[in-house]
Amino acid sequence: MKTTRYVLALALCGLAVVAHAATPNLIPMPAQLMASGEGFTVSTQTPIVVDGDDADARRTAEYLASITARTRHLQLQVKTGVSENGAIVFKRDPQAPVASAEGYALDVTPQGIRIVARDEAGLFYGAVTAWQLLTPSQGTGDVRVDPVHIRDEPRFAWRGFMLDSVRHFQTTDEVRTLIDQMAQHKLNVLHWHLTDDQGWRIEIKRYPELTRIGAWRTPPTIGKQVVPKPYGGFYTQDDIRAIVAYAAERHITVVPEIDIPGHAQAAVASYPELGVTGKRPPVSPDWGVHPYLYNVDDHTIEFLHNVLDEVMALFPSTFIHLGGDEAVKDQWQASPAVQARMHALGIKKENTLQSWLIEQMGQYLGAHGRRLIGWDEILEGGLPPSATVMSWRGTQGAIDAAKQGHDVVLSPAPQLYLDQMQSDRVDETTGRLPSMSLESYYEFEAVPKALSEAQAKHVLGMQANMWTEHMPTLRHIEHAVFPRMDALAEAAWTPVKQRNWHQFLERMPAQLARYRAQDIAYADSAFAPFIELDRNAAIASGHATVAVANQAKYGNVHYTTDGSEPGASSPLYVRPFTVNVPATIKAVALADDGTPLAATRTRVLDLPSLRTRSTGELENCLGSDFRLRVQPSADATSMAPTYLINVFDACRVYRAARLDGIAAIRVEAATLPRNYQLAHDAKLVVAHKASTQQGELVVRLDGCKGKQLASLPLPADQPATFTLQGNMTKQTGTHDLCLVFTSPITGPIYGVGAVTLLPAGQVSP
Ligand code: ACM
Repeated sequence: MKTTRYVLALALCGLAVVAHAATPNLIPMPAQLMASGEGFTVSTQTPIVVDGDDADARRTAEYLASITARTRHLQLQVKTGVSENGAIVFKRDPQAPVASAEGYALDVTPQGIRIVARDEAGLFYGAVTAWQLLTPSQGTGDVRVDPVHIRDEPRFAWRGFMLDSVRHFQTTDEVRTLIDQMAQHKLNVLHWHLTDDQGWRIEIKRYPELTRIGAWRTPPTIGKQVVPKPYGGFYTQDDIRAIVAYAAERHITVVPEIDIPGHAQAAVASYPELGVTGKRPPVSPDWGVHPYLYNVDDHTIEFLHNVLDEVMALFPSTFIHLGGDEAVKDQWQASPAVQARMHALGIKKENTLQSWLIEQMGQYLGAHGRRLIGWDEILEGGLPPSATVMSWRGTQGAIDAAKQGHDVVLSPAPQLYLDQMQSDRVDETTGRLPSMSLESYYEFEAVPKALSEAQAKHVLGMQANMWTEHMPTLRHIEHAVFPRMDALAEAAWTPVKQRNWHQFLERMPAQLARYRAQDIAYADSAFAPFIELDRNAAIASGHATVAVANQAKYGNVHYTTDGSEPGASSPLYVRPFTVNVPATIKAVALADDGTPLAATRTRVLDLPSLRTRSTGELENCLGSDFRLRVQPSADATSMAPTYLINVFDACRVYRAARLDGIAAIRVEAATLPRNYQLAHDAKLVVAHKASTQQGELVVRLDGCKGKQLASLPLPADQPATFTLQGNMTKQTGTHDLCLVFTSPITGPIYGVGAVTLLPAGQVSP
């Protein structure tokens, strides 16, 4: 791998210029960039000069000074004056050679670094670029900055990140950590998901029960496990004002989401009269699609108006998000009051009633100078005239809405959902599958091909969504978000023709170092080596042919086979190699400068490990592709252990088991909460016939209807974790094994941590 050189032709002042130099480590890549001439060295003696008496520019200059001090240990003094040589100069200039308020020009010459923009936003993005130029690598002391001339502005106006603070709650400091990262990626919309079935997280003065009751839930319990403490929290109005101001200083607009008419269980738990049944449900401890909707009577409409009054007072954002997603209409269908209201309004279908309700709120927002945005379900009953659509069920919602002349934001699942795992690695933490790689994020194109050029103008931009059902701590969130936020940022900011995956990878080592300097626990999934081999061949022959690669196919992979720590002087992996069993393989991927791209990965090759499959290596049984990696506690405080489950069928497949000489099976298992609301899909959950009350783990040959090889009774007291071991009818050859839990589907879900096949001599009594 060689550091790429770039040749970028660009027109500056009407002149086409061709340049050759190492690409600066900037993310997102600027719209136009040219290197020529000589560079400049920044030291503690280099002042940051704000040209003119400009408080906004001074704030931006101070942002640069503070982030550089924090991440590069380089203290730069800010002063106000006139442009001078040997300085980093910020100047607001109506004649700046950029078209938009977010645009900026940045020039590095022997005279210094000069950032010019028409507006404060442009100066801010120039400051972020300058900071990245000052952190080409880690270290302390002076920084030599290569010459560069940048003319930059974003592709999209909406460069969004959604944070779900309901399913799990983040402290205000944690929200600030994420806002800081958004700013460093030139993202500008924080979509803040604040209300849902599992909690109401925004203080509304007029309705105190929303947070007294609605902000707290009792986590699910199972078996004899201790009853957990209530989980929750909420943001006071002071907290919210402070977050909104903090974001605004970083040119980020906070768009709050108040979800209607569904995802309303916490609101109904707080004020049952807002609901349809009149009954008070608990704040939900479950994930998934719940039945509780708001009713549509005048009192509820007034409640929603009053809530929106306080929301609008807190959030200056033009857009207010009203949800609209996943509102199953069973309660509306069953309610005489709701049906009477529909009749009075001349509405025949519940979807149309949803559109009517959303439009009521849209008009209310419009009367206050705001705009309604909602998830693409708001299309279903006829799109309210005032609506902007956020397309999450694929891209069709965006296509339909844009064709109808509505603005749209693309945030489709699974492509831009950050709770999709970063890889299929066995050492991943929680999340959904299929995984969405760094590359798939990078290559996501926000403008659907089905739109004409005129319709494409309705695409405001794109957004990645961080749902937090399975992200109980900031560490989980950081693992899910980073470094995919880099790919998102470049897809949202950089012109299509400037986007280049391989060239992006060359800029990642510097970016990973920036994360390390800020203690951001990014996932190294794209770069971590996979150590692969044919296990059955290794068991049969006593030696293994080992292949090593990483997801991004990037970096120099070095390895050892004796268990020692690999480094730059260890063998460089170029082709598969053979080792005798037992052996311990360790591999690391290094950037060209020798810094690790990922932590060292280890694979032990001995007979027990060759006969073991861990949770991530077991497959779903036929029927459902639903795969989720969860933890034993819904509100876990660590990232491991995890269990890969299918909530529709408690059945796992051990593919291609070599059964010669195998006499028994050992299964490490866990009792997991069945805290999933599946709405109309509940009927798809598969029940397997049990022989005992608590059920057993049945092992079958060649598929889930095959011959029974073992039946291991499940413990009656549902311990948090347990081990099952038992004899298995002897077989020869290689077969799939199907492991089926026959426990009642009203009880807990059992997760398999690992399955080991045991030869006759090794079975303990
Ligand atoms: C969503 O993921 N329910 C918008």
